[in-house]
Order: sequence, then C-alpha cells, then structure tokens
Amino acid sequence: MAENYASEINRRRTFAIISHPDAGKTTLTEKFLLYGGAINLAGSVKGKATARHAVSDWMEIEKERGISVTSSVLQFEYDGFCINILDTPGHQDFSEDTYRTLMAADSAVMVIDASKGVEAQTRKLFKVCVMRKIPIFTFINKMDRDANDTFELLDEIEKELGIATCPVNWPIGSGKGFKGVYDREKNSVFLYSDTEKGTKEGETTAVSLDDSEKLISIIGEEAYGKLTDEIELLDGASAEFNLEEVRSGDLTPVFFGSALTNFGVEDFLQHFLQMTTTPLARKADVGMIDPVENEFSAFVFKIQANMNKAHRDRVAFMRICSGKFDASMEVRHVQGDKVMRLSQPQQIMADERKILNEAYAGDIIGVFDPGIFSIGDTLCMPKQKIQYEGIPTFAPEHFARVRQVDTMKRKQFIKGVTQIAQEGAIQIFQEFNTGLEEVIVGVVGVLQFDVLKYRLNNEYNVEIRLEPLPYEHIRWIENKDIDMKKLTGTSDMKKIQDLKGNPLLLFVNSWSVGMTLERNEGLILSEFGRN
Ligand code: G4P
Repeated sequence: MAENYASEINRRRTFAIISHPDAGKTTLTEKFLLYGGAINLAGSVKGKATARHAVSDWMEIEKERGISVTSSVLQFEYDGFCINILDTPGHQDFSEDTYRTLMAADSAVMVIDASKGVEAQTRKLFKVCVMRKIPIFTFINKMDRDANDTFELLDEIEKELGIATCPVNWPIGSGKGFKGVYDREKNSVFLYSDTEKGTKEGETTAVSLDDSEKLISIIGEEAYGKLTDEIELLDGASAEFNLEEVRSGDLTPVFFGSALTNFGVEDFLQHFLQMTTTPLARKADVGMIDPVENEFSAFVFKIQANMNKAHRDRVAFMRICSGKFDASMEVRHVQGDKVMRLSQPQQIMADERKILNEAYAGDIIGVFDPGIFSIGDTLCMPKQKIQYEGIPTFAPEHFARVRQVDTMKRKQFIKGVTQIAQEGAIQIFQEFNTGLEEVIVGVVGVLQFDVLKYRLNNEYNVEIRLEPLPYEHIRWIENKDIDMKKLTGTSDMKKIQDLKGNPLLLFVNSWSVGMTLERNEGLILSEFGRN
C-alpha cells in the first residue's frame, strides 16, 4: 500500500521562512510562487496592507474573513516537487503561533537583509529551529543595495547564531556596484542584470572564472582582482560543504541574491530543493514514525479561533506526518479517544481556502474544530493509538497583570482567560503560593493583549484592565526537586507558577538570569516549557 503514496510523499518539501520584518520574506515567497506558476505576477501573495495593518484594522480583518490572515500555508508545484511554505508572521502579528509553525516544518529558509545582518526576530526563530535540529538555508537578500562586508556577514551568523556557514555562491560587489555572484560549484560568475521587477525572465549570463579576459572586460579589473582574492581566502577559511551537517542543522548553506530584482532566486530554489529533506520521521510514544511506511497520522500545531462572534468555531491546523489523508476516511483523535471524520478539511492558498479530498505526509491541512482539539493532539488511523511528542511552550516576552473591571464577573473572567490560554493564544500564571487571585498573562507578541481584551469583551462579556509588568524573560525550572523558598535570585526576579503548579521565574533582563544561575549552583533554567 505504501508504494501508492511513497512517490507523492517523497516529492514533498515543507519549510518555513524565517526572517526579521522587512528582510524580504514576502518578496522571496512571491518569487518562489512565480517560478512555480502559482501566480502570474509577483505581488499577490498577500496584501501588503494586511501585513502592515494597525491594531484596529487587524480586528476588522479577522472579523471580515473569519480566519486569521496572518497564518497562511502556501502550496505550489515546481519541477516535480510539491512545495509547502509555512509563513511565520512578524511585526505585531508575532506570537506563539509563529514559533509553533516551525514545529510543522522540516527545514527553514532564513532571509537576512545584507545591510542589517542578523536581527532580533531571526535570532528568536532560529533558536526554535536549532532546538528541532532542522536544516537551515540562508538567503542573504538585497545585494542590489549597499551591503555589509561579506566575510563579516558570515562571521556574524556563525558567532551570533552558532552555526557554521558554507557559501554556495559569493557576491561580487553590492548596491550600484553589484555585478553578480560567483557559483563555487560551477566555477562560474552569474552576471547581474536589473530585471524588470516582478518578472521571472531575468536574464542570467554565466561566464567561467577561467575566462579571465572576458570577465575583466565585463566586471572590471578591480572587481575581478577582489573576487579572486576572496575566493582564495574563502577556500581556506570556510567550512566545507557537507550534506550530513546541513541535514542535522549544524551547517547552513549560504546564498546571496536580490529577491526584488529576482536575481539568484531560482538558483537558490533549485539548490535548496536538492539539499533539503523529504518529510521527516517524527517522534511518537511508540518510536519514530516513518512518513512512508505508516498509514495516516498527524498532529495539531495551531488552533485559530474565529474572531467572528457569530461563529464560535475554530480551525485546527495539522501537519500530516505519515501516509495519506482522505477526506472520507475515519480517523482517531487520540487525546479525545474518539473516532471521527474530519470536517471540512481545507488547504489555505494565499487568501483563498479550498476544500480538499486528499493530502499526504508533509502537507498541512486546516479542519473545522468544534472545540475538541488542543495544540499537540495526535490523529491517526482508528485501529491505532499513537501519540506524537508534545509541542513545547515558548517563552513569552511581555507580561501584564490582568484584572476584571467588574468584580462580580469573576467567574466569567476566569473561564475566559483559562479557555483562551488553552487555545494557546496566551499563557497565564499566578503569584507563587496564591490562587488565581491575580492573573499574570504572558504573551510572545503584544498584539495578543489586544486580542485577549477584545475576546473577553466580545465572547465572555468581561471588561479587563491590563497593567504591564516590566519582565521580559521567563524561565522554566528544570530541576525536579527544587526548594523555591531557598532559591536566591536578583531583587527584580519574580517567582510565579503556571496553572499546573510548576514553578517559573520572571526576570527584567538577561543579566539577572545569569546572576541567578550563578547564585544557585545546579539550577537548570529553560526557555521552553514542556506541555
Ligand atoms: P518581509 O516580508 O520580510 O517583511 O519583507 P518584504 O518582502 O515585504 O520586503 C520589505 C521591503 O524590502 C519592501 O519594500 C521590498 O520591496 C523590499 N525588498 C525586498 N527584497 C529586496 C531586494 O532584494 N532588494 C531591494 N532593494 N529591496 C527589497 P517596501 O518599500 O517596504 O515595500 P514596497 O513598497 O516595495 O512593496
């Protein structure tokens, strides 16, 4: 049976694009889709307006469309591959969901702005990729603008992110002086020509490095001399390409290009597709589940509440981990111990949703959720009962004390915050050694505070007041037998607990985290919580 879908699964590539806002993630995605023929003209992946909207618009957009526009999965075909791109929303939309999306990807493309280097959001998302040991491919973008020194850029990636780099190509100049890239494998220079924006017919002329006369006549003696010097230096200094190390997330292949002018994008896509993996096996309680050898299984990585008051339904996004999904088949929801048919399985393509009848390991589907699924839940064939490893809880970075305005509404308030926390939109904590007298809410992105306020008001009829707290770092305590009373931290440290009673620490800055570790020998703090 497996043979029937082995070829479908093996041609799938499922990856996330990570970057700091404005590095060019949307532009690069548009160009990928353009090559895949999924769109005719770049520029229609998602409205710029929706990516840059203000808080109030955001609510409107959510209401209008029902489902979040911030969380799309794009599927397209290219050269026999079936590609799933997972978007990792940034700006104000940055939330825990952004992290969770990475749990569903098999690899990540890291887009870096050549004039900015490694930026905050990239750093955060990168950490999650490292935790999962998934391959990371680097695209250094905007070479048509003045860029930082190439060696310095690579050095920064290595030092800041702790991953070895291996440039697959090497840029010749930048900005007005950008001449193209040298492809190390092909030993040729691909010349840059500013293509008409938004077209894929960018002409790329290749000249062998050995044809020095021709090259010098095109790029000039100075650029040629600098290039040959740099190549020599590079051959001696950079890590050698090793696919095993790429696959284990220890080495990142680096590409230079310009998404906007479409230079180096298709070349990157082609290399990337050859180097990245087919859908990876996943760890379940019974061991690793091979995507091809097993029948259908999936796990829920994200739940999207419907912001429309008239429809209390939600959409559960799941990553298919093995086998084939057929809309007519019955599946087991393991955590709920129920056999069911999934309602309205759909795929989200740009702004449209389409109902689908079948999907394979590697694909992401969204299904109608009447409120039964939780993040991390497993679905499998009725005769099975496997459970995939849970999705970790990611460290919130913004905290606020939350109170209901009308004290008579205590019950609704607790019900509301607890339910919204169960969906994974926020995390709630309490003071150490007290009950839910005071609720401390932690979020990854500040927009979630507005979502909380809006939803409590609309769905639970509770008005709240938020008092921001100065903490920015939270740590889970890994030591099982810790005596919290004896733990000595810095004066600004706060001891709190989650709803299960697990102790946690809040810090104002990373210096305090370090100090606390120093003062308590053997203390193990983690940035990820276990569910
Ligand atoms: P994001 O999704 O990572 O946030 O970035 P996005 O693609 O929206 O790109 C951010 C800005 O950078 C856009 O300009 C985009 O046109 C520009 N950009 C992307 N890639 C390149 C590149 O290779 N070279 C140059 N020079 N610019 C690039 P904008 O002015 O903010 O938007 P727009 O008005 O052009 O749409």
